Amino acid sequence: AERSPDRLRSPICCVLGHVDTGKTSLLDKIRRTNVQGGEAGGITQQIGATYFPMSRLRTQTDKINKDLLLDYKIPGLLVVDTPGHESFSNLRTRGSNLCDIAVLVVDIMHGLEPQTLESLQLLRRSKTPFVVALNKVDRIYGWEPHKFSPLRDTLAKQKSYSVSEFETRTRSTIAAFQEQGLNAALYYENDDFKRTVSLVPTSAITGEGIPDLLMLITQLTQQMMGHRIMFTPWVQCSVLEVKAIDGLGTTIDVCLTNGEIHEGDEIVVCGMNGAIVTTVRALLTPPPEREIRVKADYQRNKVVTAAMGIKISANDLEKAVAGTQLLVVHPDDEIEDLKAEVQRDLESIMGGFATDTTGVHVQASTLGSLEALLEYLRSIKPPVPVASVAIGPVHRRDVMQCAAMLERAPEYAIMLCFDVKVTPEAEAEAVSAGVRFFTADIIYHLTDAFERHLAEAKA
Ligand code: GTP
Ligand code: MG
Ligand code: NA
Repeated sequence: AERSPDRLRSPICCVLGHVDTGKTSLLDKIRRTNVQGGEAGGITQQIGATYFPMSRLRTQTDKINKDLLLDYKIPGLLVVDTPGHESFSNLRTRGSNLCDIAVLVVDIMHGLEPQTLESLQLLRRSKTPFVVALNKVDRIYGWEPHKFSPLRDTLAKQKSYSVSEFETRTRSTIAAFQEQGLNAALYYENDDFKRTVSLVPTSAITGEGIPDLLMLITQLTQQMMGHRIMFTPWVQCSVLEVKAIDGLGTTIDVCLTNGEIHEGDEIVVCGMNGAIVTTVRALLTPPPEREIRVKADYQRNKVVTAAMGIKISANDLEKAVAGTQLLVVHPDDEIEDLKAEVQRDLESIMGGFATDTTGVHVQASTLGSLEALLEYLRSIKPPVPVASVAIGPVHRRDVMQCAAMLERAPEYAIMLCFDVKVTPEAEAEAVSAGVRFFTADIIYHLTDAFERHLAEAKA
C-alpha cells in the first residue's frame, strides 16, 4: 500500500473561535441538526466530530463548482467542533493540533474577540492553514435572506444600505487582522492564498455563504495539502474524550487521522496508572453528518478508514487519558516499546516533577488542562514547586498524599484542582488534616484565587 496522490484521506477541519460566534450552529446548518439547542447553557463543553461524505457536501459545493469545475478528490471532510468558552483552551489546543485546516469563526457584528486572538495564536503556533467564517451576516440591517445561497448571489440582491454596512464591517475586520500582523481579504478578492487569509461571510441561520465555505475548504485542502492528506496504511490516531456510556461501559472517542482500524485489533492507550493494552470490542461511528458527542444510533463497523471520528468500546478504558495517541499492535511489534511510547506524553509532564520533594499538589480533568496549570505555576515569580499531580476526581488518598507536606513544608500543603469532582471523603480529609483546597471549573478563577492566597501569605 504505497502513498499515492490518487488516494487522499478525508482532511480534518477544526472549527475554532470566541464563544457564541456560531461554530456549532454552522455545523448544525450543514447537518440539518440542532445539536446547539441541546447544549447546557448554550455553550459547547466537549470536543466533537462529524464526518461529511463528499456526496453530501456536493449538494452545497456544486452551486459554486459549476464555474470552478474542480475534480473532487477528497472522500469527505471530518469536522472537529471545539468550545469557545475561555476555560477550554486545552480543547482548542487539542483541536488545533490534530487538524489539517481550520475555520476561525468571527461574529461580523463583534469583530475579533479574546478567544479569537487566542485561537489565532494556536493556529500560528501549529502552522495550520485556516479560513475565516465571518458569521451572522443575516444580522446586518435590512438583510434579505436567500437560503443556502452562495454569498455573491445574495449580496447582489441586497439593498444598497445593507451592502454598505456589510462593506464597512468587513473592512473593519480586515483592519483588525492587520493589527495582528495578518493580511486578510474577502475570499473572492484574495489572489494570494498562501499569504492572505480568506474571509467567507456566512450565516448559520439562513445557510448563506455555506456553499462558499465548503467549496473553499475543499479547494484549499486539495490544492495546497495534497501531499499531507495522502492516505497511508500506518495508523495515526488520538484520544479525544473518555466517556462512560450506558450499556457500553467506558468508551473512548478517537480521531483516526490516517490508516485503518479493525474490530478485534489489539490497541495500546495511555493510562493514568500505566499503559492500557486491550482489544477493540466494537468500532462505533455515528451515521454520516451526525455529531459523535450526541448519543445516536451508532453504526458498528468491521473496519474504519481515516479520517474518521470513532467511539471505541473495549475493556479497561476507565483510566485512559484524553489528548494522547492510540497505537495498534502489529504481529512483529514489541509491546513494551508501544507501551513506553504511549506513556511518553504523560511521563514528560509527570516525570518533570518527580524530583520536587516539596511543593503543591495539582489535579485536573485532562492532561491538557493539567499541563496548562503546570505551565502557569512555572511562570509565576518565583515559580511554585509541584510535588505531585493527578488526573481525574479527587479521592481521599490524593489529599493524604498532599497532607504529607504538612510536616516538611506546610506552606505547600495546597491542592489546586481544576474541573474535577471532589469526593465527600476527600473533602472531609482535607478539613481534618488542614490541607488548603482551591477548586474551580474556570481556569482563571483558580489562578486568581491562588494568586490572592500568595499575596496574603507574603503580607
Ligand atoms: P460555543 O461553542 O459555546 O463557543 O458557541 P458557538 O460558537 O458554537 O455558537 P453557537 O452555535 O452556540 O451560537 C450562539 C448563538 O448565536 C445561538 O443563539 C445561535 O442561534 C446564534 N447564531 C449562531 N450563528 C448565527 C447566525 O449566523 N446568525 C444569527 N442571527 N445568529 C446566529
Ligand atoms: Mg459550540
Ligand atoms: Na454557544
